[in-house]
Amino acid sequence: MRETILDINMNKVKNPGLKVLLITGGAGFIGSNFIRYEIENYDNVVIINIDKLTYAGNLESLKDIEQKYGFSSENQEQRYFFIKGDICDRKLVDSLLSGKYFKDRGIEWGTHDARLMTPDAIINFAAESHVDRSILNAGPFIDTNIKGTQILLEAARTHWQIRNSKPETRSRFIHISTDEVYGSLGKTGKFTEVSPLSPNSPYSASKAAADLVCRSYYKAYSLPVIITRSSNNYGPYQFPEKLIPLMIKNALEGKKLPVYGKGANVRDWIYVEDNCRAIDLVLRKGNLGEIYNIGGGSEIENIKVVKLICDILKTNSRTQNLSPEIEYIVDPRGQAHDFRYALDCSKIKESLDWNSTLGFEERLRKTIDWYLSNRSWVKKVITGEYQEYYKQIYTRNS
Ligand code: NAD
Ligand code: DAU
Repeated sequence: MRETILDINMNKVKNPGLKVLLITGGAGFIGSNFIRYEIENYDNVVIINIDKLTYAGNLESLKDIEQKYGFSSENQEQRYFFIKGDICDRKLVDSLLSGKYFKDRGIEWGTHDARLMTPDAIINFAAESHVDRSILNAGPFIDTNIKGTQILLEAARTHWQIRNSKPETRSRFIHISTDEVYGSLGKTGKFTEVSPLSPNSPYSASKAAADLVCRSYYKAYSLPVIITRSSNNYGPYQFPEKLIPLMIKNALEGKKLPVYGKGANVRDWIYVEDNCRAIDLVLRKGNLGEIYNIGGGSEIENIKVVKLICDILKTNSRTQNLSPEIEYIVDPRGQAHDFRYALDCSKIKESLDWNSTLGFEERLRKTIDWYLSNRSWVKKVITGEYQEYYKQIYTRNS
């Protein structure tokens, strides 16, 4: 296996092997899964998680990680530190990248050398992520997804300038983007990494803009940026505003399952752990300045996904008494509703030896099982704000 710059970096630091990752938006769906993936797969990784805790950010999703690895003298391995904060807060972001944040607070990291507690890499998950909300109110999408990303890039540019002049200590800025930046496909074809950007919702437009800002920081300042664009994720800890968890939640509550239009739109589903594995590979072995598509290879019409959820629930001993009912509603996205996404992933498959694990149905079963076993998590993350939002989207359209 070829030695990566990050591997070289590990051998150079005083505490050999220690690597500090700054995760933004780590209390959200993919971020929390990624933190769990990193901390459990690498014992030399330390995570700093900065999250604003919007309606979509929930510390409940990281309770086990906080208990086991959190900053507490009871823990043998102090490898996880949470900061409630906004990526748009330049002062805070600066203090994290310079190490001032921990120094000012006199925080000592167990056996770790405090001077080393500056991030080797930033993995930017923080975003407003829901298309329907972006159509209701685009403002927060522009602020966090574009401005927030630029603030992180600028802070990295400032603080990594010296360190990145030495190739052996090079850092990484991994920006997590989406297949939605390419816009909509018809019945055939796939997007490659060089397909034109043609976003249709304020969400995807803000993500496309952020991708271009990332690209410009690579070109103009040689900032070590890499972008990932993944398809629709599913799995544990997804907020129940997105298709799969919303349908499961509604079925359990005896509510109708609201399908937009005729349910003919197609999404390519990827199990969240497959995406985390891909992001990890990009972090460790990806080439600077590149974009990597990450798709699940499971293209399915929405209505088929919803019917499959109903079938699985009916055969599960815990839910076989349910009789979920589908309701076709007026599409709240209108023309902004992309018909189909599909990704050509040959680049990541060939250059980084990544593949998605097969079996949408099996993974969906696993996901449904998780939601059945974690009903209290769902209850805790649904606040009054969620009920308000639900009314706005679903009551007017049914
Ligand atoms: P999510 O909505 O579940 O989580 C987003 C997290 O970001 C939340 O914890 C939220 O509190 C935090 N956040 C929001 N604004 C912030 C700010 N200003 N400062 C700090 N934290 C902030 O989103 P997700 O589904 O986990 O998506 C994560 C990333 O992956 C996003 O960038 C999204 O665009 C991208 N993505 C998601 C999918 C998907 O299917 N979910 C697919 C492709 C790409
Ligand atoms: O493709 C990647 C994107 O996937 C990410 O960038 C976004 O952050 C993520 O939210 C997701 O976007 P989608 O809009 O594709 O996902 P969502 O789960 O909201 O919707 C999936 C499909 O299901 C879409 O065609 C709309 C439809 N839908 C959704 C909901 C919530 C319904 O029919 N009914 C619903 O209630």
